[in-house]
Amino acid sequence: MFRGSLFALAFSATLWAAAERKPQEQAREPQNPVGYSADTVREGRKTYLRLCQYCHGADGRALANPDFEAPSLRAPSEWRHGSSDAELFVSIRDGAGHEMPPFGRQLGDDKIWQLVHYVRSIGPKELRAAPAKQGQ
Ligand code: HEC
Repeated sequence: MFRGSLFALAFSATLWAAAERKPQEQAREPQNPVGYSADTVREGRKTYLRLCQYCHGADGRALANPDFEAPSLRAPSEWRHGSSDAELFVSIRDGAGHEMPPFGRQLGDDKIWQLVHYVRSIGPKELRAAPAKQGQ
């Protein structure tokens, strides 16, 4: 009984700590398992130009298509579905809102993580992952 409440206390403290973190701090966590490099960004860009520019615009600013209210991918602070790497991944894999289609079936996880790197590369510098260290 006593142990149970200690556990509950520790658990709520963890939840509280997670809630206290600013979105920007969460976004900076190195969650992307694919290393950030010129190559991964280039691969992500290829996929982006093939599948995403139709709605989000060639430069990510989303002024291209009046039929979709796509957000600018250069402004994570305005996103509605989260701006951490993991949330960005989920938006691409599962889609977002009513109009952003899911790409999980079409793209494997690695391709989506490359896209995450590409989207970071056109967004604010401070949210980019550090380049992978040599040998990784
Ligand atoms: C058919 C048009 C369309 C295509 C194609 C499309 N998107 Fe979107 N996307 C949208 C719309 C519209 C939203 C806003 C959804 C909402 O919040 O209601 C969105 C939202 C997003 C978000 C979430 C932003 C937020 O507010 O949290 C991300 C990330 C994103 N798109 C990335 C991509 C990527 C990467 C691709 C290519 C793999 C892509 N989108 C392809 C229309 C599209």
